Amino acid sequence: MASCELLPGLYHVGVRDWNRRQFDALVSIPHGTSYNSYIIRGGGKTALVDTVAPGFEGEFTEKIERIISPGDIDYLIMNHAEPDHAGAIPCIMERNRKVRLITTRKGAKMAERFYGVSAERVDVVEEGSTLKLGHRTLRFIDAPFLHWPETMFTYLVEDGVLFPCDFFGAHTAFGIYDDDVEDTIYHAKKYFGEIMMPFRPMAQRALQKVRELRINLIAPGHGPVYRNPSRILDAYERWCAGRTKNKATVVYVSMWNSTERMIRCFVDTLQAQGVEVSLYNLLFSDVADVASDLVDSRAMVVGTPVVLGGMHPLAFYATYLVKALRPPLRYAVIVSSYGWAGGAVKQAVEMLSTLKLEVVGTVETNGPPAKEDMEKVRTTAEILAERIKESPTA
Ligand code: FEO
Repeated sequence: MASCELLPGLYHVGVRDWNRRQFDALVSIPHGTSYNSYIIRGGGKTALVDTVAPGFEGEFTEKIERIISPGDIDYLIMNHAEPDHAGAIPCIMERNRKVRLITTRKGAKMAERFYGVSAERVDVVEEGSTLKLGHRTLRFIDAPFLHWPETMFTYLVEDGVLFPCDFFGAHTAFGIYDDDVEDTIYHAKKYFGEIMMPFRPMAQRALQKVRELRINLIAPGHGPVYRNPSRILDAYERWCAGRTKNKATVVYVSMWNSTERMIRCFVDTLQAQGVEVSLYNLLFSDVADVASDLVDSRAMVVGTPVVLGGMHPLAFYATYLVKALRPPLRYAVIVSSYGWAGGAVKQAVEMLSTLKLEVVGTVETNGPPAKEDMEKVRTTAEILAERIKESPTA
C-alpha cells in the first residue's frame, strides 16, 4: 500500500472506499469516497490526524507502517468522533499504549462512549491550544457543530496546512489533489448541501477563523486535498452566507400526469422569464442532487398529487428534508392535483412554515388541469419569477 507525501514529512495515509455507494443510509455517492488521515513528522514528535472507517484498519496500518511503526506515534488527533474518521482509533490505541488522544472536551466524552478511550489517555484542547512536534507546531481551532458538537480543526502553523475533517469535504474516491478531479467543486457542493447547510451560522464563524490563517493546503477528511485552496474557500464563502441565484429547484411526483403537466408548464414559464431551473422527478432522483441545488436556489416549487388526504409520500419526504436542511430559500410555490378531495397543499404549506420563506402562491386542481388551471399555473410562475429576480443576491 502506497502512501502519498504531500510535503516533506507530511503524508496522506487515508484509504479509498471505491465501492461505497451510499452514505448515512441516505445519499448516493456514485464515485465512492475516501477516509483521509495524515501523518505529520515534526522532527521530535509524530502526530496522526484522524483515522479511517471501521473495516479498513488493515490497509490503514499497512500504510502507516511504511512511514512509522504505529507504536511510535506520539499524538492521535481526533478532529471529529464520527466512525468514518475515528473508527480506527481503538486499533491504533491498542497497538500503542503511550499515544495521547488529542481532542475537544466534548470529543473526549465521545471517544470514551464510542471507542472506550479512558480519560487518562486524552489531552483536551481548546481554541488556540498549540502542540509542538519539534520544528512543527499544531494549533487547534474550535469549530463546533460542523457537523457534530465536538468538531474542531487542526492547523499546521509553519506549513499553512489546515485539517478540517468534514468541512470542505467531498465524497469522491478519485484523485489526490483538487486539480486531479475535474468536478471537485460539484462533489464538494453536494457534500455541503447534505452535511453543512443546516449549520450555516456555525460554518460562517469557522470560515471567518480560516480566512485569518495563511493557507497553502486544505487537507479534508473526504475527497481530494486542495492545493489551490482559493476556489473552495470562495465557494464556501458563498454557500455559508446563503448567497442565492435567480434559480428555482422544482421537485415533483405525478400519478396520472396532471401534476406533471402543470409542473412542466411552470418550469417553461420560469425559464422563459430568465430563471434558472433544476427539475427533479422524485421517482428517479437522488436527494443529494436536490440538496446540492438548494445550496444556491432562491425558490422551491413542490408538485404533488393528493394521496389519502395528504402529499404523495415522496413529496412529503422531499419537503421534510428541505425543512431539515434549512437551505437559504426565500420563496415557495405548491402545485397539486386531486381526485375527490384536497389536502396536499395545506400539508406542504404547514411543513414549510418553520422556514423563513414566503409561499407566494399555490395551484390546486381537481383532476386533469383545465385551461383556466394552466393559466393560473403560468400566472403563478410569472409572479414567482418576478419575486426571484427582484430579490437582491444575499
Ligand atoms: Fe465524515 Fe461526519 O463524518
